[in-house]
Parts: sequence; C-alpha cells; structure tokens
Amino acid sequence: MSDSTYYLTTPIYYVNDAPHIGHAYTTTAGDVATRWHRQRGEKVWFLTGTDEHGQKVMRTAEANGVAPQEWADRLVESAWLPVLKTIDAQNDDFIRTTQPRHTERVQKFLAGLKDKGEIFEGAYEGPYCVGCEEFKLPGDLADGTGEFEGQKVCPTHGRPVETVSETNWFFRLSAYADKLLAHYEANPNAVAPQSAYNEVVSFLRTGLQDLSISRSTFNWGIPVPWDTDQVVYVWFDALLNYATAVGLGDEPGTPGAERFAEIWPASVHLVGKDILRFHAVIWPAMLMAADLPLPKQVFAHGWLLVGGEKMSKSKLTGIAPSQIVDHFGSDAFRYYFLRAIQFGSDGSFSWEDMSARYTAELANGLGNLASRAPAMVAKYCDGILPTPGESTAAEVAVQEALTSAASTADEAILRLDFLNGIQAMKSFVDVVNGYVTEQEPWVLAKDEANAERLSTVLYTICESLRAIAVLHHAVMPKATASLWEQLGADVALGPIDQQNVTDVARWGQLPAGTPITKGAILFPRLEETAE
Ligand code: MSP
Repeated sequence: MSDSTYYLTTPIYYVNDAPHIGHAYTTTAGDVATRWHRQRGEKVWFLTGTDEHGQKVMRTAEANGVAPQEWADRLVESAWLPVLKTIDAQNDDFIRTTQPRHTERVQKFLAGLKDKGEIFEGAYEGPYCVGCEEFKLPGDLADGTGEFEGQKVCPTHGRPVETVSETNWFFRLSAYADKLLAHYEANPNAVAPQSAYNEVVSFLRTGLQDLSISRSTFNWGIPVPWDTDQVVYVWFDALLNYATAVGLGDEPGTPGAERFAEIWPASVHLVGKDILRFHAVIWPAMLMAADLPLPKQVFAHGWLLVGGEKMSKSKLTGIAPSQIVDHFGSDAFRYYFLRAIQFGSDGSFSWEDMSARYTAELANGLGNLASRAPAMVAKYCDGILPTPGESTAAEVAVQEALTSAASTADEAILRLDFLNGIQAMKSFVDVVNGYVTEQEPWVLAKDEANAERLSTVLYTICESLRAIAVLHHAVMPKATASLWEQLGADVALGPIDQQNVTDVARWGQLPAGTPITKGAILFPRLEETAE
C-alpha cells in the first residue's frame, strides 16, 4: 500500500477556448491533494492536459480561420500551460491528445479491443450535442426556449442538438452494465461523493446501450487503425489519456511498461459532475474490456455558478483565473475555492465573499499571527528563538489543539474534503491567536522577572507557526514558504515541502537559538476596490 503511487488526474480540457475559474478549480484541488500526499512521504504522480480532437475544437479552429492543430498549439501555449503557473500548480506531466505518445497507444488499444471481439460495425442514427461531444437519448433533451422555441435542446448547453446518421464502429458497452454494478456494489468508494455514487448506480440499473466510437463525417481525430476513413470518437480517445500518459500497452520490458506497472491504476480521477458518466461508466467498461485494473475512485465535484448557472465561456460568464489571482494572489485563490465550497457541491463565486474571507481569515487571522511573532522575537529576544521554560496548562492546550487539528486535517484531505481540512487548520490558527491575546507577551516583557515565561510564550507561538506553515503548505505554497524562511526553519529543518504532515504535531521541532527574521507581509491588506 505505502509503496503504490498516489496517481491523481484532472480532466483534460477542451482547447476550444481559454480556461475560466471552473477549470482552474479542478486543477487547484488536484494540486492541493497531490502536494498533501507528497508531504506524507508518498510517491505521487499528478497528470493534467488538453483534449484537442473532435468537432467542437475543429469548428472553433475553422471559425478562426486556422487548422485545428495550429489552433490547439496556440491555445495550449497561450492559455492552458500559463494557467498552471497562474494558480501555482505542480503537475508532473501534461498530456495533449495530439501527441504521438497518445495517438499511437490509442490505436493500439483499439486494435486490441477489436481483436477481442469488443468492437463491431453498425449504423447509428440519433441526436448529438457538439458542446458535450455526446450522443444523447431522446429522453435526455429539453424543450428549447427563446430563439430555440419548438426545438429540442441539450439541457447543459441550451442549444439544439444535431442528428448524426452514420455507419461506424461500436463498442459493446451494453455487456458491461451488470459487471459495473457488481463492481460498484463491492466498492462503494469507487465513486464519490455519495450523491455521485447514487447517480451512477441508478443509471447503470436502467441498462446500457452499445456506444458508437468512431465518426466518418469529419477527420479531426485519431484514425481508426483498420478503417482510416473513420476517426475515433473524441471521448473514447480522451478517456484513454489517463492510461496512455503512463505507458498503456507498451511491450513488456520497455520503460513505458514499467511506468504503467508502477503507476496504474489511478488513485483518483477528479471530474466535474457533468462528465461523471463518461468516467464512471464508459471508462471502466473500456478497461474491463481490455482486462486492465480499474481506477480506485472517480470523484465528481460541483460547479462554480454565476447567477445560479454553471459558469461557462459560451454563456459569457467565464472569469479568467488571472483576474482573481492578479488581485488576491495565487495562494488566496487556492485557499478560497477549497475553503468556501464543499468539494462535491456547487458553489457561487462573488468578489465580496472572497474579499471578506481574505481579510478576516488570511490578512487578519493567519497573516497577523505570522507577522506578530517575528516582530516580538526581534524586539524582546534580539531575533533569536528563545529556549522555553516549563509548559503550563495553556501551552499543553496549544499542543493538544495542534495534535487534533493535524489529524482532522489529514483525514479530511485524504477524503478530498478540503473545506473541513482547511477548517481544522484554521481552528488551530484561531487557538494560537487566542493564546497570544491571553498570554500578553508585551506585558510579560515589561518585567525582567517574567523572562522565562516570556521565552516559553514566544517559543510556543513560533513552534505553532512552524506547524501552521507545514499544514497550510499544500494549500498556500508561496506564503508558507515565506513564513518558513522568516522562522529560520529552512536552515534548521530543511525545505518546507520535505516536512511530513503526519509528523507535524510532534512538538519542539524548531530548535531554540534559530534566528528569526521579519519578512514580507504574507497577505497584504487589499485596497478597497469596487470590482
Ligand atoms: N474534454 C472533456 C473532458 C475529458 S476528460 C477525459 C471536457 N472538457 S471541458 O474543458 O469542457 O471541461 C473540463 C472540466 O472542467 C470538467 O470537469 C468540467 O466539469 C469542468 N468545468 C467546466 N465548467 C465548470 C464550472 N463552471 N465549475 C466547475 N467545473 C467546471 O469536459
């Protein structure tokens, strides 16, 4: 167990447009989870990337007068790679579905399924939504309103569907409904949260239809290896990225095969709730058909809403991550979205709410504590961390609060409950702020007779900040690295990202005698701007 790799993926994003905060939300969550697991000393692999084939991308490229590959290259370079820097994501790999490492492995996988009798030729006629890149059943559609009155529309995109009528290749998806049901009954954590699990199981109980997995009326996709007039259906191509990126199907003894053995299956696929069925129905069926291990979990998070609707570029409600990061910083961006919205539920973004939390929890809460401590050590102890004297009940209470916060945070983040994880960390910050107020080190400092007591109090605050920095590092890498340096902990204890979160509550790690310096303010107060 401890030897296996924690392999986390985000969906691969369509390159038809630039990212908005809904996309950045998934990547941020993945980045926090993987940083946390790294800080538990585990082997970790974090994959993200772009989904570049299909009609949606092709039509956008055409509308912009460029070839689809050129369009994809442009968007990846100008938008999708830069957003990772904007939000400070530390992915290990970035896969693009137009890379040969992907296209070749997809073709090989497909040929393997064909040889096994999992793929057959058939005729398809039915509605298709290019926005979702999904075949729809008549019951999936809604009645159009406004300009689409009288037409059937996709409920997600609010636009009319198209009718596809083609002869193409099918995957025997219908054969997997019972096997998938049995799998989910035996593995109730394989889809989370519970609402997503229930949705998948009730969908499977209605049975599955075979899936058309190729298209012949356009050519922006991976050619079907035995019938090159057809291209692979974009979702069949895209889902495979999680496995092609780590060497799917490579010959035994090759580096790809070794990687695959080491990393596959995925520990968790993070997805938005709109793409849950692709991941919890089609994808595991494809893997079952190829006799490959299934991912341990698919976690479906909610949507960021604007005016009660899913934020989206096509509805012109998309907010670029840089709009928020330029104002609040990447740490606050990461903190806010995971702290304010229960991962798994929908949530609304508002500048007012974000500003209020920034001020209360970051500038006043953590930031104030972090700036007071070095200032007091500078003033009363010449900038050197003093040796503590005997602990009293007040110090024991701080140490106990840390033990409990650390274990609550760990348990919560391991189940991707970021809100409660961060809440536990924040509760410890509140305890330490309360301790400072009660102990009044500035009063102790007035009388030489209290020297030992002052040392104990200042040590307790700084050692608490050591733990606070380690605990918050996955969420706010930049501010905590700065705090770590101010505490002199980089020299005394080594790099912050090497500090094990499961050991964070062991008291007394920051050695007395460490030089503490006052550095930059972690969370500067915001100018009152009317956004
Ligand atoms: N390309 C497919 C995924 C293929 S994975 C094998 C796709 N791409 S997408 O760019 O349209 O969406 C990517 C992810 O962004 C999805 O998980 C989707 O739920 C998420 N989000 C898009 N808008 C969102 C919000 N407003 N809020 C939260 N997440 C949102 O689907």
